Amino acid sequence: MLTIALPKGRIAEQTLEKFAKAFNEEFIFEDRKLILQKSGFTFLNVRNQDVPTYVMHGAADLGVVGLDVLEEKEYDLIKLLDLGLGRCKVSIGLRAGEELDWTKSQITVATKHEKIAKRYFEQKAMAVEIIKLYGSIELAPLVGLSDCIVDIVETGTTMKQNGLEVGPTIMESSVHLIANKNSFYAKKDQILDIRERIEATL
Ligand code: PRP
Repeated sequence: MLTIALPKGRIAEQTLEKFAKAFNEEFIFEDRKLILQKSGFTFLNVRNQDVPTYVMHGAADLGVVGLDVLEEKEYDLIKLLDLGLGRCKVSIGLRAGEELDWTKSQITVATKHEKIAKRYFEQKAMAVEIIKLYGSIELAPLVGLSDCIVDIVETGTTMKQNGLEVGPTIMESSVHLIANKNSFYAKKDQILDIRERIEATL
């Protein structure tokens, strides 16, 4: 029995399609059910940001999650495979026509990605005040809540439609299959078999 935490929504569906192909079985969550048990697998339907938590604590052996979420959690987990889904960048967003003013004594940044943002500015020896938001990050610079944002950019449309410009990229992200360290060593053959079969579907 192997437990796999999936991030609710499109990525979970796309991952289950890959498992379906790899194991010649149909895997679909019923209605509002959060657990799907079939053919030796237990799939958990959890919030995106919670996937590393389930895997870290060993409540799930494997997980499927974006590198940006993984970086933000700073947990010691094994990256098994890039699934190539959910490709995006974590970038700085600025009011159109503006640039970051590195001469300021401190930059105020609104973001969901607190740690990634903090690390980026600290590496550049810039004092930073992080304002944690949970969504609609693009609003913050427009109403003077922050100097800039650090957020996910996929097509760039959201920033553009809100009078922002995509600035420097902090990291590239895509969805990865991850493993709990103890699970990996205890169930190595099974986990490597899964990785191989999933890789073959990519
Ligand atoms: C992300 C991000 C941007 C948008 C970027 O939000 O926060 O708002 O996608 O995509 P674009 O560059 O293609 O316009 P998401 O849809 O993940 O929702 P969330 O803010 O609720 O996490």
